[in-house]
Amino acid sequence: MKVLLVGGGGREHALAWRLRQDDPTVQIFAAPGNPGIAELATCVPIGVTDVDALLRFAQEQSVDWTLVGPEAALAAGITDVFRAAGLPIFGPTRAAAQLETSKAFSKTLMVDASVPTGRAVTCTDLASAIRAIDALGAPVVIKASGLAAGKGVIVCQTMDEARAAAAAMLEENAFGDAGATILVEEFMEGEELSVFVLTDGERMIPLPAAQDHKRLLDGDRGPNTGGMGAYAPVSIVEREPGLIDDVLATVVAPTLAAMRARGTPFTGLLYAGLMLTANGPRVIEFNCRFGDPETQAVLPALSADVSLTAVMATIARGERLPDGVRLDATRAAVTTVLAASGYPERPRTGDAIDIPEPPADVLVFHAGTKRAPNGSLVTAGGRVLAVTGLGDSLDEAQRRSQEFAAAVTFDDKQFRTDIGWRELARRAGAT
Ligand code: AMP
Ligand code: GLY
Repeated sequence: MKVLLVGGGGREHALAWRLRQDDPTVQIFAAPGNPGIAELATCVPIGVTDVDALLRFAQEQSVDWTLVGPEAALAAGITDVFRAAGLPIFGPTRAAAQLETSKAFSKTLMVDASVPTGRAVTCTDLASAIRAIDALGAPVVIKASGLAAGKGVIVCQTMDEARAAAAAMLEENAFGDAGATILVEEFMEGEELSVFVLTDGERMIPLPAAQDHKRLLDGDRGPNTGGMGAYAPVSIVEREPGLIDDVLATVVAPTLAAMRARGTPFTGLLYAGLMLTANGPRVIEFNCRFGDPETQAVLPALSADVSLTAVMATIARGERLPDGVRLDATRAAVTTVLAASGYPERPRTGDAIDIPEPPADVLVFHAGTKRAPNGSLVTAGGRVLAVTGLGDSLDEAQRRSQEFAAAVTFDDKQFRTDIGWRELARRAGAT
C-alpha cells in the first residue's frame, strides 16, 4: 500500500508511526515531512497548501490514498481537488471543513441542530460586540471566527479586557481576515476533553478520549500555546461509558446530519473540543482533523489488534464504515512536548538537539526539527519534539515520558513536568 501523508509536525509523525504499525509493508510519502518522519517515509519538499503539486505527485506515484494532517491543506481545498481527480483522500472538503475554519459557521450550525454549546453572538462591528459583551458579562470569551493558528481565542476575565480584545480583532486587524468576524461567547467552566470521531459522513467510530494541556507552564499557568502535552485514556470517560455515547448522540450525530442536509457531508475525523460542565458536555469548538499533541498520545495508546489504517482508508475511498469496529485503548500514554526557548511568542531556532536512544515504551515524535547542512539535528519551530511514554498505568506512562523528556537536550528547552496531573490527582483522591 502506498500512502501520501500531508504535513510535517508531531501529529504527522505519529500518523506515520501508526500507518507502519498497522501495515509493516506500507510505503509512505510525506509532504513535506520532517527528520523524524524521514525514518519511516520518503519526504518530498511540497508545501501542505500547494494542492496542485500534491495532486501531481500523488498521480505520478499512483498512491492508493492520501492522509491529510493539517487544517490549512483542507482549507485550501485539497480534498475537493483530489476527489475531482478520482483520488481517495482522508479529510473533509473545504465546505465541510468550515466546521473548523469558520467559528461563525459552526456556531450557527450547532444552534440550528440543537447541539449543546456556549451561547454566543457573532459580530462584525465593535458596537454590536460591545453590546454582546455587556449582555454576557465577565468572564467572557472573544474568538476570531477564522483560522488563527490557535491564537484567536481570548478568555477575558474583565469587561475591559473583552472590549480591548474585540477592538484588537475588529478594528486593529490583529488576526487579519480571521478576526473580521468574531464571536462573543459565554465563559464555560469545567474540565476539557478532546474527542476524536472517525466518520464516513454518517457512521461514527470514536477514538479514546484525551486531554490536552494548553498553557505553557506547570499548574496550567502562563500563556496559551498550541498544546504542551496530552494523555489518554481519561478515567472520567472510561468510568462513565455513557459519556461518549452521549457525546455521539447529542453532538456528533446531529452535526453530521446537519452537514449531510446542507449537501456538504463531513467525512474524515471530527474533533469535538468539549467542556464537561455541570450541565453536561458542551462544545467549545470543532476541528476537522486530528489534534496535536493528542494524536501523539492517542495513537500509541490504541490497541495494536485493530487497524486504524484500514478505517481511514475505507473513509478515504468514500466507502461505508463497517458496524461494530471499536478502537479501544489498551495502554496508558502520556505525551510531553519539548518547546524551544522563547515559545510561544518568539521561538528561537537553530539550537543543536541531542536525542539519546529511547528505551522501550518511549516514542519520540519530531515536530519543529530539521537537519542542518552538516546533517546534525537542530530546532526549527516552537514545538520541537513530543515524547510519549507508554505504560500499563498512567503513573508509569508519565514517569517514562518525563524521564526521557529530561534526557533530551537542546539549549533552554521548555517542558511541563505535570502532564496528566488531573488524572493523577483523581487517582490520589480515589485511593
Ligand atoms: P481553541 O483555540 O478554540 O481550542 O480555544 C483555546 C482554549 O480557550 C480552549 O481550549 C479553552 O481552554 C478556552 N476556551 C475557549 N472557549 C471557551 C469558553 N467558551 N469558555 C471557557 N474557555 C474557553
Ligand atoms: N490540540 C489542539 C489542536 O490540535 O487544535
